[in-house]
Amino acid sequence: MTVILDGKKLRDELLEKLAVKLASYPVMPKLAVILVGDNPASKIYVNNKKKTAEKLGIISDVINYPATVSENELLEKINELNNDKAVNAILVQLPLPEHIDKTKIINAISPIKDVDGFTPENFGKLLTGEKPYVYPCTPKGILLLLDKYGIEVDGKHVVIVGRSNIVGKPLAIMLLNRNATVTICHSHTKNLQEITKTADVLISAVGEKLIEDNMVKINGVVVDVGIFKDETGKTRGDVDFANVSSKTAFITPVPGGVGPMTITSLMLNTVELFDIQNQKKS
Ligand code: GUN
Repeated sequence: MTVILDGKKLRDELLEKLAVKLASYPVMPKLAVILVGDNPASKIYVNNKKKTAEKLGIISDVINYPATVSENELLEKINELNNDKAVNAILVQLPLPEHIDKTKIINAISPIKDVDGFTPENFGKLLTGEKPYVYPCTPKGILLLLDKYGIEVDGKHVVIVGRSNIVGKPLAIMLLNRNATVTICHSHTKNLQEITKTADVLISAVGEKLIEDNMVKINGVVVDVGIFKDETGKTRGDVDFANVSSKTAFITPVPGGVGPMTITSLMLNTVELFDIQNQKKS
């Protein structure tokens, strides 16, 4: 019998603890979210972030722009938020429209307010093994979930499918910093199945139907970061859950696995940045 890595349950536990901690705060942390355009998935994610923040009493300000917004307008807003003492955390929801240079926008965020850990200072520190102000939300959430279920990665072969700056790359470094042997696969990888079958821990972050039961190691761990609607409108992940789950020792569901952990990490990061800015010990 496989064990389901229950992201909702861990989210509830961690957010309950966070609410207790926040009850002693004289001032609530504030998260500013910039949302450009009307990508339906981004709108849902941002709405979930806002709702979760509100439940905790974290102040959230969602700033909406049309897809036609100029790069300069966004840079000006980021500059304003950087200088606003009431704002502790800034998130620019990705993806951004094609005409906007994503790197330029992310690099404009003050590293001490960079709640995603995506700026060069935070990402660079992650890479060199120094402590960034905060760790990227999805990788952090995945590691919290593995920790909760006592899944050690030291010396294990962890295979990540997907090389994005949001998940694959930072997650690989964080696992390496925990002494895992890490392989990153992507769209140009040859013989994907041969590699994924050797994974003690397989993490798929692609966003399409990909992982079948003949691609996983018997009694391994499978983490599914993908979330999308299939042709019937059903929400699913990269992994064929029904068939793969009969082979694994541990597996995340979609929904209810990694997704809630990403939002939880965002809340934790917002409070961590508030504490750093106010030099509090947690
Ligand atoms: N889009 C999808 N995931 C993320 C994330 O973790 N952070 C940001 N900023 N945008 C995203």
